[in-house]
Amino acid sequence: MTRPTRKQELSENHPAKRGKRLSAGGSLDVQHRSNITLARLQDESRVETETISSSRPRGLLAKGSSFLNVVELFAGAGGMGLGFILAKHADRRFRLIFSGEVHPIYVETLKCNHGLFSRMQKPGACLVPEQENVHPIDLDKKNALEHVASVARAAGGADVLIGGPPCQGFSSANRNSWSSDNPNNRLVDVFMRYVDKLRPPVFLMENVQGIVWTAKNGDNNSLSVAEYVLRKMKTFGYLVFPKLLDAVWYGVPQYRTRFFLMGIHRDTGYCEEDFDDWGPFPTPTHGRSSGRPFVTTREAIGDLPTIGNGHSVNEMDYCEPATKADNEFLSLMRKCAPKREILDHVTSRHADYVIDRYKRIPAGGNWQDISEMMSNYAQLERTHSNIYRRLKWGEPSITIGHYRKSMLVHPEQHRGLSLREA
Ligand SMILES: C[S@@+](CC[C@H](N)C(=O)[O-])C[C@H]1O[C@@H](n2cnc3c(N)ncnc32)[C@H](O)[C@@H]1O
Repeated sequence: MTRPTRKQELSENHPAKRGKRLSAGGSLDVQHRSNITLARLQDESRVETETISSSRPRGLLAKGSSFLNVVELFAGAGGMGLGFILAKHADRRFRLIFSGEVHPIYVETLKCNHGLFSRMQKPGACLVPEQENVHPIDLDKKNALEHVASVARAAGGADVLIGGPPCQGFSSANRNSWSSDNPNNRLVDVFMRYVDKLRPPVFLMENVQGIVWTAKNGDNNSLSVAEYVLRKMKTFGYLVFPKLLDAVWYGVPQYRTRFFLMGIHRDTGYCEEDFDDWGPFPTPTHGRSSGRPFVTTREAIGDLPTIGNGHSVNEMDYCEPATKADNEFLSLMRKCAPKREILDHVTSRHADYVIDRYKRIPAGGNWQDISEMMSNYAQLERTHSNIYRRLKWGEPSITIGHYRKSMLVHPEQHRGLSLREA
């Protein structure tokens, strides 16, 4: 499946616009949402056409233990693992028994975050790996596979294997490397190798949407990488559930669509009929079909003090008492943050001519509103629509990528977003 052009996406007859699914052939059937306009159209259509079922699957997942062991690969800062740690069920919790990351600086971040996650839990709850056992590890190495397998054995087995193998090769932020030849794409194979070796009852792989249209062998006639993974996982005995999910549906103040593939091993006793359209994924908590509005940019960053272009003071006070987090999102975000201080509310210093441009861009606008001022851009027609995008207070943010490259603008102040806001 080739990536649809923007013109195709927005044409009246395009299936995505009509709320239909784009199939990449075979059993891969996901709804493509590559830009904010398309995402909004789909959400409207979903409200009209779907009633969200609350039916839950029947089968039993794992042994009688009150903990399910999670092995986290390509951990980065540990965001995926955090989701599992925070997930609560009446008598079951997830605990991370291993978090694997190769980059030494990311491992330091991971360890800091593990400390934070532990403080968010009741004292004594051991939900993160022993920190002295978290070291940089190249998961592509044979001895790494053996090591992870022995950690899992010692903990009584891996119940869930999770990971987002690096995605530069499929990322729309990096169009030049859309190819399965990109060495980063090889790491999807590494993820599958771990599934094959550990055979967890459940795996969850996350990636960017580009995995759906990147051809496995670099030509448009071959399987997409997503379809290839899905087929291979089936041969390992898994029921497979591919889905594109948007973080905005779950209370994140940002449109951010990602591809998820969940596999449930047939040995668990589950079968396809146990699941509705959403498969094993949670139904949205936000958006019209749920009765709760999306979280807006104002709710997410409206509490931060006004700063100027190039502001560089790293620690500041909130404008009001830290206890006055007046919406659900802020209360959650401030739960474990330092009580009074705001960290990293700093922003790049832009040249005066850039600030002059910002001043002319309305909320929701972008470089197209000031195209006559963009004289230093050689190929304007190739300029990404996120360049000089000014956010809107009353809506979720667009997807935040490399925030300095996109040059996202504050909803009303004439400056780029601060690190804290991004
Ligand atoms: C897309 S990020 C994962 C982000 C993560 N899911 C999170 O929530 O923060 C992929 C990560 O894989 C790491 N990585 C790349 N190659 C690796 C390898 N051979 N072994 C272990 N980690 C690797 C990268 O350094 C990067 O942090």
